[in-house]
Amino acid sequence: MKTSRIARRSSRLLPGLCALALPLAGWCASSSPKAEQIERGRYLVRVGGCNDCHTPGYGASGGKVPERQWLTGDTLGYSGPWGTTYAANLRRQAAEMTQRQWLAMAQHQPMRPPMPWTSLQAMAPRDLAAVYQYLRWLGPQGDAAPRYLPPGTPPSGPAVVFPAPAGS
Ligand code: HEC
Repeated sequence: MKTSRIARRSSRLLPGLCALALPLAGWCASSSPKAEQIERGRYLVRVGGCNDCHTPGYGASGGKVPERQWLTGDTLGYSGPWGTTYAANLRRQAAEMTQRQWLAMAQHQPMRPPMPWTSLQAMAPRDLAAVYQYLRWLGPQGDAAPRYLPPGTPPSGPAVVFPAPAGS
């Protein structure tokens, strides 16, 4: 009885404390509903492979990029028949949107390759909300990724070039 009362009281106190104590994140993460949502978001980002494109150097280093640099977008372009796309700075984006706006974008906005947007649309709303809360928890950092370039406009920086589909 007593323990559950303490647990209930601390679940109200902890989100506030956790917001102040980022270095204690590991401890906070298992302690309150909000922290559990953030932890779920971190898990989904990891199994969803989001860092592979949205975090500079992530794939090349075998994932050895500190979490504070995750999802800040990349200047590496992806050129193909769709033009040239850049993996967005998701942390800045989430910081500028409400959860509702972010969910609407993730569920309905078609995106260009190689963004696996059909996977994003297949995510349950509560999982998308968890990813959003995780992005908000990380906070905005870094510059916006370069703007999308339409077909025929050559990128000025490095780009991975995808061939046109066979037969086209
Ligand atoms: C294979 C590379 C790749 C992976 C993996 C990837 N993305 Fe992306 N993402 C991109 C690219 C490139 C764009 C830009 C697409 C465009 O310009 O239409 C993008 C765009 C987005 C956008 C839209 C941003 C905007 O401002 O319109 C969101 C949201 C997003 N990604 C979330 C995610 C999440 C969440 C994951 C993991 C589940 C993920 N991405 C995995 C490459 C990737």
